[in-house]
Amino acid sequence: MTRVFSGIKPTGHLTLGNYLGAMRRWAEVDQRHGDAVFCVVDLHALTVDHDPARVRRLSRQTATLLLAAGLDPELCTVFVQSHVDEHTRLSYLLECVATDGEMRRMIQYREKAARERERGGSVRLSLLTYPVLMAADILAYGTHEVPVGDDQTQHVELARDIAVRFNQRYGHTFVVPRATRPAVAARVMNLQDPGAKMGKSDDSGPGIVYLLDEPDVVRKKVARAVTDSGADVVYDPAGRPGVANLLEILAACTDGDPAGLGDGYTSYGALKKDVADAVVEVLRPLRERHRELCADPGYVDGVLREGARRARALARPTVDAAYRAIGLLPAEAEVVVGAG
Ligand code: TYM
Repeated sequence: MTRVFSGIKPTGHLTLGNYLGAMRRWAEVDQRHGDAVFCVVDLHALTVDHDPARVRRLSRQTATLLLAAGLDPELCTVFVQSHVDEHTRLSYLLECVATDGEMRRMIQYREKAARERERGGSVRLSLLTYPVLMAADILAYGTHEVPVGDDQTQHVELARDIAVRFNQRYGHTFVVPRATRPAVAARVMNLQDPGAKMGKSDDSGPGIVYLLDEPDVVRKKVARAVTDSGADVVYDPAGRPGVANLLEILAACTDGDPAGLGDGYTSYGALKKDVADAVVEVLRPLRERHRELCADPGYVDGVLREGARRARALARPTVDAAYRAIGLLPAEAEVVVGAG
């Protein structure tokens, strides 16, 4: 059976990028593979300046949106990272396998640290070590596939490298995972700045479609999307990033092909109208289900409680095996036959 694991950070309101790049596939494809595990990775939200009450609120909202997007607790495990100690237990061991050079090469670290320094702030050590915790998230579950958007590929590669190195040094302990990405919309761009990813932690609201935006708001944001100076609608991500982004969004929402879709339009206005309609339709059931779930917070809590219980049971044996393999004395006198 293929074990799938993926996670999402409660650092802001979830966006169309999160949905098209990751969540939709989790619901439509990955959870049907069998043993899939999806995590609200709240510890990762503490790596930058944060408001404790907001992180708590967003953790619940993120979990609710995962269920609203179609994750079914009968099919998969949904839980909050900090409810399962195995993640931090394993992370330290992996810090003893990863190198500081590897951490400093991570693009997200470099970008976020530079932004933080520009603002005159200090960079939390956890921002540097974040990819190790992410590797622990993945490796603790014996994960084969990690469905993510493009921006997370480098982190999953690192998890692979760490798994291989650990296995070589200490004996086979971890499955070596691989990232999977969607065919289209693997990197949805900001509508106001098609050179930048549509990110939930960014400040620029008008270029970001949030999953809980009212339909009118979605329409306005799409109508004001920055397009390019040309007039014809062609799919050319390098030369025409604004239009290419709209075509990718339309293709993702309608199961189409971005290059082919361009042929059907003679104006940007018509394209934007269809993109807005398609996004509103894709988000409609999610928003409705979210409203229902908010009326029943006890249900969401129950799902998370049961999810944490299942996740702990899944992760524990692998993390215990890693503790033994790396040379730590078991806490309880275990009789390990033949051990020196
Ligand atoms: P996060 O919370 O930034 O994003 C969650 C998922 O959404 C995808 N995504 C996008 N896809 C396409 N276009 C976009 N504009 C866009 N923005 C976000 C991300 O690629 C991701 O798949 N480090 C991770 C969270 C994490 C994790 C893990 C993921 C922690 N541990 C273990 C997988 C496995 C992150 O910050 O994702």
